[in-house]
Amino acid sequence: MAETLMEVRGLKKHYPVDTGLLKKLRGEQRRVHAVDGVDFDIRKGEILGLAGESGCGKTTTGKCLTHLVEVTDGTMTFGDDRIDIAGLSGPELKAYRRRAQIIFQDPFESINDRFTIRKWVGEPLKIHGIVPEEGFEAKISNCLEQSGLTPAAEYLDRFPHELSGGQRQRIAIARALVLDPEFIVADEPTSMLDVSVRAGLLRVFKKLVEEQGVTVLYISHDLSLLRYVCDRIGIMYQGELAEIGDSDAVLQDPKHPYTQALVSAVPRSDPLTKRERVRIPSEVVDRYGGIEGCSFKDRCPYRFERCEEKPRLVAMDGPVEQRVACHLYDDAVEETMDDIEPDFEEKKTFDIV
Ligand SMILES: Nc1ncnc2c1ncn2[C@@H]1O[C@H](COP(=O)(O)OP(=O)(O)OP(=O)(O)O)[C@@H](O)[C@H]1O
Ligand SMILES: [Mg+2]
Repeated sequence: MAETLMEVRGLKKHYPVDTGLLKKLRGEQRRVHAVDGVDFDIRKGEILGLAGESGCGKTTTGKCLTHLVEVTDGTMTFGDDRIDIAGLSGPELKAYRRRAQIIFQDPFESINDRFTIRKWVGEPLKIHGIVPEEGFEAKISNCLEQSGLTPAAEYLDRFPHELSGGQRQRIAIARALVLDPEFIVADEPTSMLDVSVRAGLLRVFKKLVEEQGVTVLYISHDLSLLRYVCDRIGIMYQGELAEIGDSDAVLQDPKHPYTQALVSAVPRSDPLTKRERVRIPSEVVDRYGGIEGCSFKDRCPYRFERCEEKPRLVAMDGPVEQRVACHLYDDAVEETMDDIEPDFEEKKTFDIV
């Protein structure tokens, strides 16, 4: 099994929502529990996917891992030197920023249009001062080519606004690469792009991993896309991990009732093999404050007494990794999914948005 690049334990990020007058009027500070106690490892040289509905905490997780936000609680132990990145500041934080990069969804928002591509992609080299200036051009060109912008010489002195969305996202990747990072968080990097350019960008990520040993956390709503790029997949629900493991296991034989609903909501190309769509009530419980017990219990058709307690991730038996946070898989519980009459009374369609 590959070595671990990052060990995430008990990670929490709670955002205060009422400030100023609102806080005074309420007399208390409400908090959104965007990430609420997740544990997982990221292995060296893998692409780990992160999926789940809008607002479940994917971007916040990515921001915690790249230290773009201060975490509320938990540890994130990184690299062979096992530094806890949650506690970094000053020069240690600057050093970590070289090693971990994030690429965002919107290539129109994240790039400075006043800079030439040479200047924009090369800026981190200047800030970090790790390559002598005479080496900049070769390094920038190399990264542009790795991102699929060839020949690089044709792009260096152009401005980002002259490029298409797909090319701009390649510029963002090139800028992330100039510092030779070990770890990249890609937060829905293709979701705003034309379907026709997606495959090309996915190949760029696959190549980075295969040829340079970069490790990637790939965030997306698109389970079919994740199945194509990822070694393992984590499914988040309401700030917690519902299931994590080998991509094929999680997507072909999902165990958590939430993963089952997500997978069944994916349109299939062959209508004859269309599976029964699992329908689940769409009400989402209040997101302020923590959720007692299983966070999925109010939507779960298999709810039983034990769901009032918080489930922990339990490893399934089998040749590949698959861990599930659902009491149906607790050793001490005798019920299985087949024993419980699922309560699909509310026939609202489950939609992943
Ligand atoms: N800066 C912030 N201040 C307050 N609340 C925030 C902030 N950023 C995110 N949130 C809240 O935290 C929760 C998780 O948000 P996050 O952006 O991590 O979700 P996501 O899974 O990335 O969603 P999407 O798929 O829509 O990108 C949401 O309820 C969101 O409204
Ligand atoms: Mg997001």
